[in-house]
Amino acid sequence: MKAIEIREKYLKFFERHNHKRIPSASLIPENDPSVLFTTAGMQPLVPYLLGQKHPEGTRLTDYQKCVRTNDIEEVGDNRHLTFFEMLGNWSLGDYFKEESIAMSFEFLTKELGIPVEKISVTCFAGDEDCERDNVTAECWKKAGIAEDHIYFYGKDDNWWIAGEEGPCGPDTEMFYDTGKEPCGPDCQPSCDCGKYVEIWNNVFMQFLKKDGKYTKLPQQNVDTGMGLERITFLLEGKKDPFETELFAPVMDKLQELATNDSIESRRIAAEHLRSSMMIIADGGRPSNVDRGYVLRRIIRRMTRHLNKLGIDLSKMSDLIDLDIDILKDMYQELDANRETIKETIIAEQEKFMRTLERGEREFTKVINKLKAENKNLIDADTAFNLYETYGFPPEITRELAKENNFEVVETAEIEKKFKEHQEKSKAGSEQKFKGGLSGTGEQEIKYHTATHLLNAALRVVISPDCHQKGSNITPERMRFDFNCDHKLTDEEKQKLEDQVNAWIEQDLPVSFEEMNKNDAAAKGAEHEFLERYPDIVKVYTIGDVSMEICGGPHVEHTGVLGHFKIKKEEASSAGIRRIKAILE
Ligand code: ALA
Repeated sequence: MKAIEIREKYLKFFERHNHKRIPSASLIPENDPSVLFTTAGMQPLVPYLLGQKHPEGTRLTDYQKCVRTNDIEEVGDNRHLTFFEMLGNWSLGDYFKEESIAMSFEFLTKELGIPVEKISVTCFAGDEDCERDNVTAECWKKAGIAEDHIYFYGKDDNWWIAGEEGPCGPDTEMFYDTGKEPCGPDCQPSCDCGKYVEIWNNVFMQFLKKDGKYTKLPQQNVDTGMGLERITFLLEGKKDPFETELFAPVMDKLQELATNDSIESRRIAAEHLRSSMMIIADGGRPSNVDRGYVLRRIIRRMTRHLNKLGIDLSKMSDLIDLDIDILKDMYQELDANRETIKETIIAEQEKFMRTLERGEREFTKVINKLKAENKNLIDADTAFNLYETYGFPPEITRELAKENNFEVVETAEIEKKFKEHQEKSKAGSEQKFKGGLSGTGEQEIKYHTATHLLNAALRVVISPDCHQKGSNITPERMRFDFNCDHKLTDEEKQKLEDQVNAWIEQDLPVSFEEMNKNDAAAKGAEHEFLERYPDIVKVYTIGDVSMEICGGPHVEHTGVLGHFKIKKEEASSAGIRRIKAILE
């Protein structure tokens, strides 16, 4: 079934169940300056979830265009998208769990014809804020889901809120079993190995979170979201969205044009092309601030990958025509803005191409110089210079570095430079940069130190053999990968949190000394890639609990970190687990 047919089936089904079809809101939020783009179907409906009367009544359905760019660096794998479509249905104080689940079950099994045994569902396990959702589990059983296909998880998995504050509640998620072999005895829907793919999320929005506290909303709502690209590739028996009719013609064309083929580069180019076309059709234009800057980064990253593929800009107009022709029945706004889309993308690409080659030459100079000095770390000044002079956003510098086996300093340091720059150029409010590039600097430095504490805690709590296998920090959270042969239990997660928080409370001093890298390793300093470090390295020590080779920067005392909390623990790849955590 094609995406456009699935969308129509969905909307018609809910219309038959007395829902009013409402149009997709723009990708650019109209009344919400706190977010750059619409990221979920519920976003334009927030006032109505809070109790205001909607002119179309209490049962609504729509498809909503969404853009999420937090994981932009992950696009290129087989599942991350910056633009996607969310199908949704809402009860604004009308039906609740039982009817919502009965409708979802009917839609999945009768309308889409998914065999019931391929469906697993998850429910909220309960905590001090909200009771265990046995009601939802009972509704699933009554609908026909077997007991061993029903799972309970905590807030990390089965609680939904857009950002930090607002309407929220426990959710129930539906997963499709792709039939892949389980990745291990613990394999279940919360696992990231690809066996289970989340297809639909029904949120029972009955709380408002404000200043860290939950209060009851005046009404019980249901907010649901189904990712169209996902359900399409699953129903079509494809491996990923790039194999469906939404992307395949562009992927094929790119392959035909490429002189230096790479599937990652083609995915990035195809995904970013669609995403930038959609943003431009809704009025976005590239610039150096706010959403304009996000659009600029998307177009530039696409351009670099087209360049890598050996595809030249003279092909752009035809590529855009092809993509619009594939998508125009779903998004008429693309056809209506065809010329603006072409002009905007091509003008931005031409601007970038003028500096791309010079920038790449500069980059080669930088790394040759570093090699001569026996170093392999690109510092913040260099990364920032590549942005300011050659228009390279950090993810492009990072990609280039990776391709040459070089490292780039922590994003925190580059972000500091960005911040200074953006303040100088009187950029928009900081709030709007959340998740973007101009974090506060301070917050990321705290996360950086927390990363060392977590790394040390793993060896105390889990196993002396656990070590860091990657990390990524934004102003909002830290992500930490480590080797481990099992999914962490709730008890292990709790112990990790307690250990890190105990060290924070002890207000341990943080200091560093410089030494030869082999001496550092011999002293037992933690490190990821010794062979890649320069001869002389910094070794950071936290009290007597942690010693790591690291460029910094760090806080001076752990007491300033606040409270450490694990938000998610999941598989990252074979034998590697991933923790997402925050400081609150
Ligand atoms: N708002 C919910 C989500 O985005 C449905 O998953």
